[in-house]
Amino acid sequence: MTVKFRTRKAVKPGDLNCQYTLFGGRLLSWIDEECGIYSACQMQTKTLITKYMSEINFKSPAYLGDVIEIGVETVGVGRTSLTVACTVRDKATEREIVKIDRVTFVAVNEEGRPVRHALSHLARKPKVDDVPAEPEPNWWARLKNQNWLKKQSAD
Ligand SMILES: CC(C)(COP(=O)(O)OP(=O)(O)OC[C@H]1O[C@@H](n2cnc3c(N)ncnc32)[C@H](O)[C@@H]1OP(=O)(O)O)[C@@H](O)C(=O)NCCC(=O)NCCS
Repeated sequence: MTVKFRTRKAVKPGDLNCQYTLFGGRLLSWIDEECGIYSACQMQTKTLITKYMSEINFKSPAYLGDVIEIGVETVGVGRTSLTVACTVRDKATEREIVKIDRVTFVAVNEEGRPVRHALSHLARKPKVDDVPAEPEPNWWARLKNQNWLKKQSAD
């Protein structure tokens, strides 16, 4: 699936760090908001919580006056959660600024407990392949396979 870049942000003086580049915390806040809005639309809920973010690797800086764009795409659907990937790039050059492979949101009720959402029916159930084909042999079976035990039984 091709990622859609729906949101643009202009880097303003108040968004800068001490090096006069875009402050990482500001960018993370934009990412969290954008991914949250996207997920809320997909899950059709107004009550959701950021549960997890995978590695955040800032690849290149953005400068005052740059326009950046934020792209989000669905990478996983669970019973109460939705996982998205997020890419941020410079609008003019398409240079990647940061990419986060997995951001997970959980739909919650008034008590803050996880609840099903509009896409829950698409949740992937564990496949047979996910389970090890054979259980770990128990200690007695392992012993029986060892030569010294076979010898002892023969005596
Ligand atoms: C979100 C929260 C309600 C989930 O509670 P929980 O007891 O972990 O609930 P569950 O174990 O039932 O998991 C709920 C969902 O989260 C998913 N989940 C749990 N831990 C996860 C992790 N480390 N990474 C990704 N998904 C995770 C589960 O797979 C489940 O999704 P599914 O139903 O689609 O399979 C709770 O962890 C919480 O309130 N966290 C604080 C969130 C917050 O404050 N966010 C703002 C941060 S600034």
